Amino acid sequence: MDVKMTGDEEMTDHLIFFVNGKKVVEHRADPEMTLLTYLRRKLGLVGTKLGCAEGGCGACTVMVSKYTPHLHKVLHYSVNACLAPVCSVHMSHVTTVEGIGSTARKLHPVQERIALAHGSQCGFCTPGIVMSMYALLRNNPTPKMADIEEAFQGNLCRCTGYRPILEGYKTFTQEGGCCGGKGRENGCCMTNGNAADGELTPPLFNQSQFIPLDPTQEVIFPPELMSMVKRPCGTVSFRGERAMWIQPGSLQDLLKLKAKHPDAKLVVGNTEVGIEVKFKNLLYPVILSPSYIPELHTILHTEEGVVIGSSLSLSQLGEVLKQEVKLRPTYQTEVFRAVLEQLRWFAGLQIRNVACVGGNIMTASPISDLNPVFMAAGCKVTLMDTGSRRTVTMDNSFFPSYRKTVLKPQELLINILIPYSSKGEYFRAYKVSPRREDDISIVTSGMSVTFSEGTAVVKDLRLSYGGMAPTTRMVTKTTSRLLGRRWGEELLQEACSSLAEEMALDPSVPGGMVTYRRTLTLSLFYKFYLSVLHTLAEQGVIVEQVRADCLTATEIYHHTPPSSVQVYQAVPEGQRKEDVVGRPMMHLSALKQATGEAVYCDDIPLYENELHLALVTSTKANANILSIDSSVAERMPGVVTCVFASDIPGCNMTGPTVYDETVMADKQVTCVGHIIGAVVADTQTHAQRAAKAVRITYQEKSPVVVTIQDAIAAQSFYQPIRTLQRGDLEAGFNQADHILEGDIHIGGQEHFYLETNVTVAVPRGEDGEMEMFVSTQAATKTQVLVSKALGVPANRVVVRVKRMGGGFGGKESRSTLLSTVVAVAANKLKRPVRCMLDRDEDMLITGGRHPFYGNYKVGYMDSGKVVALDVTYYNNAGNSMDLSLSIMERALFHMENSYSIPNIRGRGFMCKTNLPSNTAFRGFGGPQGMMVCESWMTDVATSLRKPAEEVRRINLYSEGQKTPFNQVLDQLTLDRCWDECLSRSKYHQRREEILKYNSQNRWTKRGLSIIPTKFGISFTAVFLNQAGALAHIYTDGSVLLTHGGTEMGQGLHTKMIQVASRALGISTNRIHISETSTSTVPNTSPTAASASSDLNGAAVHNACDILNRRLEPYKTKNPKGSWEDWVKAAYFDRVNLSANGFFKTPDLGYNFETNSGRPFNYFSYGVACSEVEIDCLTGMNKNLHTTIVMDVGNSLNPAIDIGQVEGAFMQGVGLFTLEELRYSPLGVLFTRGPGMYKIPAFGDIPSELTVSLLRDAPNAKAVFSSKAVGEPPLFLAASVFYAVKDAVLAAREDSGLTGPFRMDSPATPERIRNACVDRFTKLCPPAEAGSYTPWAVQV
Ligand SMILES: Cc1cc2nc3c(=O)[nH]c(=O)nc-3n(C[C@H](O)[C@H](O)[C@H](O)COP(=O)(O)OP(=O)(O)OC[C@H]3O[C@@H](n4cnc5c(N)ncnc54)[C@H](O)[C@@H]3O)c2cc1C
Ligand code: FES
Ligand code: FES
Repeated sequence: MDVKMTGDEEMTDHLIFFVNGKKVVEHRADPEMTLLTYLRRKLGLVGTKLGCAEGGCGACTVMVSKYTPHLHKVLHYSVNACLAPVCSVHMSHVTTVEGIGSTARKLHPVQERIALAHGSQCGFCTPGIVMSMYALLRNNPTPKMADIEEAFQGNLCRCTGYRPILEGYKTFTQEGGCCGGKGRENGCCMTNGNAADGELTPPLFNQSQFIPLDPTQEVIFPPELMSMVKRPCGTVSFRGERAMWIQPGSLQDLLKLKAKHPDAKLVVGNTEVGIEVKFKNLLYPVILSPSYIPELHTILHTEEGVVIGSSLSLSQLGEVLKQEVKLRPTYQTEVFRAVLEQLRWFAGLQIRNVACVGGNIMTASPISDLNPVFMAAGCKVTLMDTGSRRTVTMDNSFFPSYRKTVLKPQELLINILIPYSSKGEYFRAYKVSPRREDDISIVTSGMSVTFSEGTAVVKDLRLSYGGMAPTTRMVTKTTSRLLGRRWGEELLQEACSSLAEEMALDPSVPGGMVTYRRTLTLSLFYKFYLSVLHTLAEQGVIVEQVRADCLTATEIYHHTPPSSVQVYQAVPEGQRKEDVVGRPMMHLSALKQATGEAVYCDDIPLYENELHLALVTSTKANANILSIDSSVAERMPGVVTCVFASDIPGCNMTGPTVYDETVMADKQVTCVGHIIGAVVADTQTHAQRAAKAVRITYQEKSPVVVTIQDAIAAQSFYQPIRTLQRGDLEAGFNQADHILEGDIHIGGQEHFYLETNVTVAVPRGEDGEMEMFVSTQAATKTQVLVSKALGVPANRVVVRVKRMGGGFGGKESRSTLLSTVVAVAANKLKRPVRCMLDRDEDMLITGGRHPFYGNYKVGYMDSGKVVALDVTYYNNAGNSMDLSLSIMERALFHMENSYSIPNIRGRGFMCKTNLPSNTAFRGFGGPQGMMVCESWMTDVATSLRKPAEEVRRINLYSEGQKTPFNQVLDQLTLDRCWDECLSRSKYHQRREEILKYNSQNRWTKRGLSIIPTKFGISFTAVFLNQAGALAHIYTDGSVLLTHGGTEMGQGLHTKMIQVASRALGISTNRIHISETSTSTVPNTSPTAASASSDLNGAAVHNACDILNRRLEPYKTKNPKGSWEDWVKAAYFDRVNLSANGFFKTPDLGYNFETNSGRPFNYFSYGVACSEVEIDCLTGMNKNLHTTIVMDVGNSLNPAIDIGQVEGAFMQGVGLFTLEELRYSPLGVLFTRGPGMYKIPAFGDIPSELTVSLLRDAPNAKAVFSSKAVGEPPLFLAASVFYAVKDAVLAAREDSGLTGPFRMDSPATPERIRNACVDRFTKLCPPAEAGSYTPWAVQV
């Protein structure tokens, strides 16, 4: 291992590390390979998942244990394996999910508890969450709830809504477990509602069964490794295909190397460099790793402050500063506390564990969270090269331009001095981001003021902002004006008007949000002003006090640990113990998901001759293709072939309903991300590199239609334009006391299934047979479209789906885009081909939920009763029809939500635009249809100055009324849900308290809302309402069940096994579902429309009935016999023990022309009440409380159903308050990963969450009286949106604004802040529309 530094860089050392206790020696380590790729592809450890490749989802979390020389101990920490270069784990021990336990060996308690607590649905996030928890427990076996929340800041889950995960892991905490009624005021199951009707709801899991945690049993740091790491190590280097990794043994060696390779990158956490390499296609041929250089890891205490080595991780920095804060007098630690506050919201723990202080400074990002603090604090950095050492203050000259620092190429950043604050100095830091946890800043700031001793006269003022210029910037003009001035209202006014001028932004500036960002500079200064004023008053330096109603603006965010209650109806007394229908049975794959054993599509072992595919996509939104040149790509390492439209043996036209799109574009492209071709190579990396080298020339066309407004202007619509009308509109408006008009835009939504689209296509070598492993909700659709493209009959294509890591509608039709191309490539090469899309590709190509724009005219009486409604919907369908018509129809079917409107007309236009085709997404247009409804309902209440709850209540449907499509509502449970929700949420008491709170607080406001939902169950395309099942009984009595539905985490297979178990009268562990396959159950409908349990459940039941009938004679003959006896007897009697079940929903069919017929089999109902608090100055908000009452009929499985309710609700929270897709005016998607696109995280769940499944509400129209549950609860998250709007209304009233106002969805901090009009917003008026080209447009 001895590499000479000079001249011997040709050599490569052996990379040595341990994985799960076993030694790995890699002779050809590639510095460009991540630890994740190494684990999955080289070691076959596929338990660790790839969700994003950018450190933003935590699916790839592993634990790294490293002996740390400067601390003389082994540190264990969670790491994102997708960003960690494999070379960075040299001499480390890596623990993966496979290393801590398995179903075969022994489960680890962290694996068992997440599964038993129902915290794993699709399971794709589960290994990462398990490992975050494991790493926490390795360091702290009895954590607090706050530690758990911190550990999960970097983990995302799209399915569960997080509550069950926290609930399961709470059992490890000091606070954990049931308090037996003695506990907190809110959220105790005994005091807060679980004891409904005097009957205690049984817990969803039984904690007494849990394996105890025994920290002494954990895998130890390998002794062999310990002895290796303690030996002195010199320089080590690893040479890969394109890059060299050098880990020098001393600072002098490092400086020499930097002198020799001035362009070399120093890599510590790789959280910045890794992103550049992956997403900006950059190559760094020499990488220097300073892991073992003591000078870069120092912690020194000097007279001036603390000196932090540049390579110290952010987590370590936090530890050091926490200690300082404990030990030093408060006045000295103002800066330290500000740094700690920034670190609290800096990325997730996995990133903070590896990312270093120097990396943050040197990245020179304009939105760095630490640089504004370092600059305002006047931090000094030490720089060195081989010949010199200098100290530089971090001021405006430190960052000369975008992503540049004053460092010379040969220089290194050695350390940073963070000073103690002085007496009379006050320091604060602020960060504003759309999501509080793990999000990049919109505006971030460090602010320091020092007063002349004993006065409020400003001696020194330093303000620094990130997010307001290409570099972090110190304010200069304003601050110099304020020197010598007294800290008071006059200073504030001058500061604000001067800041508004000095911090101006061009209206076209990258990042957009111009008005908001400008307003934030003032709002944050105002917070600082108030906070300092308050401190001065407390210290008696000034006599004036901060007004009591402004005090909350001085507070830092206080997090309340979430509490929850779940209520459901226990099974009737006397139900057989083995009969699991109605019981909270665990998802049957949950344990395998928690151990990493569950096999997802990309976990299938590589075939020996397998190849990898990467797509070539359009960079133009509307253009003719002039030429495609793949010659360079084809010569690149590893490339086998390129595939284009000419390689399609069958038909290039495709689409789920009409064939209006291409498999691969050959003549023209109609969106950015349009698939043009693909490159096939020996590895995914080679394929992706070569795909970027395919040169396409375009002739751009106009117009480029991107937004709904563009489409309306160009009259660019797909046909037909749907109208749904009932009653007499004109008479309705004539009769109305009032008429109002309004509009709302509802943004789209990315599915963000944790597992991106993936396909493995395996040619079978004869008769054109192709076996496809696909992550899809639509096996049959995939089969049909692949066979069409290949020009073979459908009987040659078998599509197999074991499970998906989430679907949510995104894999209902758009998954075929990828699977068809992969099949074409496999067919061309006659070799297996695999492709798993990267997150950015998936987000770019596959579309999402349709953005909608609705405008309305509504007529209503003084009482609030609505008598007439005319509403027009526009959806942004994108560049093909896909499912847009059905989605628009569902929006129209839900245009009145849960309200009886006698005279009503809805029209729906599908906008044809140059965006990737939008598609199905949980709710399928229903949520957008109802969202517009709740907008006008809110306007009506606001204009009448009546409580919105009262206006909603008087319009609510009652039993027997007809919908606009003439369907009679029977077995209506809306009123029961409504009343239960009102009482469980203590709505009226809350309203009183909110009124009081709002009158006492100017800058934080609370809002409340209660919203109902009614959701029609059935596919609106009648033919899809059918399902098949196949049940085989084997001679040992075991049953293999198959049905047409696919498992995407929603627990369908578990429910189907429950159904079969009751129907056959055998225990669930005799029944197995292996997969969904087009060769076992043909012609299946996609698993969608919430109807899969109803349809497949009935088909399964039918198959079981047939088998029961066949077994009946043997049961009669031998009534005391066992199941095996009857099966054997039947078999020997030559009875067919395989049965095919079938079901079609009766009496369905609707005609738009005649407005007659039944589109839906039945309706699901629910009501939710939410309370929020907004910070009027930043727009950031928190969900304080949500109560949901949902009618799921007689629940087949309350744990799964509550999981669906909570998961759907949280997805809705994302849709309506957080998730924002940002497109350029030319149709380029900016938000292509979790870095820029924020789905709800652990911290976004309501502080109090109650979910109650309505009791005694059997549904005669579905299997075992159950009801569909997948989609209906999603819309209930609108209660959060309208609670936000309610809070904004209160803020506006303080500014003298009353009456309805438009607020678009999602209610992001930007929208909230801009709507809370006040003295600061008035100083930052928006530029005139049309006078500039915005960075992003609302599509
Ligand atoms: C998911 C995610 C979330 C993030 N969240 C935030 C956030 O909330 N706030 C925020 O501010 N940033 C955030 N970042 C950015 C990033 O994590 C930080 O900038 C981090 O501190 C970089 O440290 P690193 O060790 O990973 O840097 P690396 O990627 O290893 O290196 C970054 C740069 O610093 C240079 N460098 C490092 N050390 C030295 C040195 N001693 N001398 C000279 N040059 C040096 C490298 O050459 C390279 O150019 C996030 C990144 C990710 C991936
Ligand atoms: S895959 Fe690593 S964080 Fe998402
Ligand atoms: S269970 Fe968490 S992403 Fe599916």
